[in-house]
Amino acid sequence: MGEHVEIFEVGPRDGLQNEARAIPVAEKVALIDTLSRAGFRRIEVASFVSPKWVPQMAGSDEVMARIRRAPGVSYAALTPNLKGLERARAAAADEIAVFVSASEGFSQANLNCSVEESFARIAPVVDLAREVGLPVRGYVSCVTECPFDGAVAPAAPARVAARLAALGVYEVSLGDTLGRARPEQVRQMLDAVTVEVPARHLAGHFHDTAGRAVDNIAVSLDFGIRVFDAAVGGLGGCPYAPGAQGNVATEKVLAWLLSQGMQTDLDAAIVAEAAALARSMRDPSPVPE
Ligand code: HMG
Ligand code: MG
Repeated sequence: MGEHVEIFEVGPRDGLQNEARAIPVAEKVALIDTLSRAGFRRIEVASFVSPKWVPQMAGSDEVMARIRRAPGVSYAALTPNLKGLERARAAAADEIAVFVSASEGFSQANLNCSVEESFARIAPVVDLAREVGLPVRGYVSCVTECPFDGAVAPAAPARVAARLAALGVYEVSLGDTLGRARPEQVRQMLDAVTVEVPARHLAGHFHDTAGRAVDNIAVSLDFGIRVFDAAVGGLGGCPYAPGAQGNVATEKVLAWLLSQGMQTDLDAAIVAEAAALARSMRDPSPVPE
């Protein structure tokens, strides 16, 4: 039997946060309810960030109240600060995620503060979440390239990942936010990061702008990483990363993993159903780049 690899579904959050169309809560709930039948262990369904910054996620409270939760599935929510944590607790999120950047330019654009300030902001969030028994995941954005600062040296994500792990996050997800990383850059980045954080506590989060996400997943597998974030239908991008396209499509990663003899516990037919639903939700007339 092949090795087990987990796909962490992020479509309802990373995917939908970037759609230009205001997606009704009912459509989001329908997507999540379909995903809940597919066999995922973790699904990121909400983002309790400022609605002034990401209006697409403003209805996250209502979404979490209306989904039908499947037993054994952890429903995750993004939280940038203590207010976000408060909202995530009120919505009964099963786990939260904090997020920082390996580069200063993206930190300023996405969080309106420096990398150092972002750690000061999330430290009490992680502390309180752990105190109340909520698992915390940590994202590092721009692990190889930043839309504002250009190339990012491997030492930067290594340093930031180590700090997140020291705060007490249970897993660090390494984000190629722009989706243009080359496998060689991912290799160099992972050479540095795995010195600080063991592969069993890492995940790969590849956007697929340049169509190399699966190649980058292959490299990450060589390092022992066994968790990959993906979005059904290849939804998404980041509103504060100009030029970034969607996350690598869940169905594409699943098909490739199966072709490599890996196991995922996912039901490919339901994943395909969710992917079709996700594609039908996309803005029919995306703004040209
Ligand atoms: P700010 O403007 O510097 O700070 O934003 P603020 O504290 O003055 O907040 C502004 C307003 O938002 C205030 O309202 C706050 O109360 C309110 P006002 O007083 O003006 O009426 N506010 C909130 N409301 C609801 N929930 C909250 C909340 N916090 C503040 N939690 C802040 C700083 C961090 C809030 C802002 O920059 C923000 O929300 N940024 C998030 C941007 C974002 O969500 N980006 C996308 C997610 S990250 C991503 O996609 C990358 C990832 O996928 C990995 C990868 O691919 O790299 C994870
Ligand atoms: Mg992302």
